[in-house]
Parts: sequence; C-alpha cells; structure tokens
Amino acid sequence: MYSTRELPKITTHVLQEMKLKGEKISMLTGYDYSMAKLLDKAGIDVILVGDSASNVMAGYNTTLPITLDQMIYHASSVMRGVNRALVVVDLPFGTYQGNSKEALNSAIRIMKESGANAIKMEGGSEIIESVDRILSAGIPIIGHLGLTPQSINKFGTYVVRATEEEEANKLRKDALLLEKAGCFGVVLEKIPAPLAKEVTESVKIPTIGIGAGSHVDGQVLVLHDMLGINVDFSPRFLRRYENLHDTIISAFHKYIADVKSVDFPNSKEEY
Ligand code: KIV
Repeated sequence: MYSTRELPKITTHVLQEMKLKGEKISMLTGYDYSMAKLLDKAGIDVILVGDSASNVMAGYNTTLPITLDQMIYHASSVMRGVNRALVVVDLPFGTYQGNSKEALNSAIRIMKESGANAIKMEGGSEIIESVDRILSAGIPIIGHLGLTPQSINKFGTYVVRATEEEEANKLRKDALLLEKAGCFGVVLEKIPAPLAKEVTESVKIPTIGIGAGSHVDGQVLVLHDMLGINVDFSPRFLRRYENLHDTIISAFHKYIADVKSVDFPNSKEEY
C-alpha cells in the first residue's frame, strides 16, 4: 500500500517520464469527492472524470446527455478530494464538435471552474482545429481513439473498433496527428492488442488502454465496473476487483432488518 506523501505529484511531464522509464500508468474514473479521496490515497496516477458519469452516475444509456455544467460539478467535487493524482476531465458531447472557438470556451470553463489539470477529447483529424486552439491556450489534452462512445450513433454498436485495415490506418494517422499537435497522451479504447502495441511504439507520448491489451503505457477502467458496483456490463476486457454490488446490497438488507426489528439504534447509539 502506498502512502501518497511518498509519491510525487503527477503532472503530464511525470507521465511522459513514466513512459520513458517503462513504468506503467494507472488510471481510473472518478466522479465525486469521497471516491476521489480514496483513489488518491491508494496512489492512483490519473483520475479521469469521464463522461461515463452519464451512465454510472446519472443512469443514461449513453454518454451523450451529460452537460458541461454537470461535468464541471463532478470535476470540482473530485478536485476537492485529490492531492497527488492528475485529474483529467472529458469534454462532453456537443461542447466541442461545433467549432474550435466553442471548444476552447468549453475547455476554459472546465479548467477555470473545476481547477482540473487537463481535458480529454474524442476523435482525431475531425477535431484537430479545436485541439490546436485549446493547446495554444495552455490547456493539456489527452486524445481518445478507437471506440469513442460519443459517436455511438454513428457506429451503431460497441464492438471492437479498427479491425479493418482502413479504420486501423486512420487510427495510426490520428495518433501521430494528436502527438504532433502536442497532446500529452492518447486513450485507446477497444481495439486489437497488436494495433495498440504498434501505436504505442510509434508515438513518444503515453498511450492508455481500455480493452487494448497489455502493450500500452497504462490502463484505465470505469470505477463502478471494476469495483463490481455495476454488474450489468461485462465486456471481456473488464476485470472486477471486488463485488461491491453484493456487499452493498447485504449492508442495506442488514440495515433494513435492524430498523424493522428496532435493533437499530440501541441504547449506545442514542443521546
Ligand atoms: O468516460 C470514460 O469513462 C472514458 C473511459 C472509458 C476511457 O472515456
């Protein structure tokens, strides 16, 4: 178990050094103060305030409905719980695809109102003008290629991406383009492991995989999936580290039974 005091504050430069040293980067999503505090205490390198909050916090089927205000609320809650981890926030759907000026305004709002360290954006060549503009304002960006959930209505399915040569080629080019623009890293979601390895070796910036095999520079999972709180989602790439679904339900059952039987509160629990 790490004590976060012994570990250096994570910056985008530290992540770059970790890649150079071959030290893997750990990243998990986080959406609230209490979980962020636990993640930071455990020594996680990066907390992603993902737009997966739309699914796991708000109960929507896709990441599309979450708003910029809601992302800022989650991000500022996370920031209050963190000392060491780098905090990255997703630019939500509809806040950057319109034009680069709108994209910059959205990125500035996240940085100013939440105090987060960086943003994440889905896409490659389609969004490069916005990427350039945001980077020019001094806001660090991590890209996101492969399965990009904000485009689910275009894909029509959450199956593995870039299995065909044309899409794999575009992904290779997009990774190089994002690196050249100055992004500090790129998330590779649900793509064949050999392609993720090739991309990882072709860029100097760290790659963070989710369903992209082990030959990447780091891994990310959605918190509620890896803790087994959300058990409705079981893709092959997901490793469950706990079964909190059953643990929490069991605690609730005990509480309900104690209240009904007037076992809780007892004399030591009253004033
Ligand atoms: O929003 C999110 O949680 C993500 C990860 C799946 C990478 O983008």
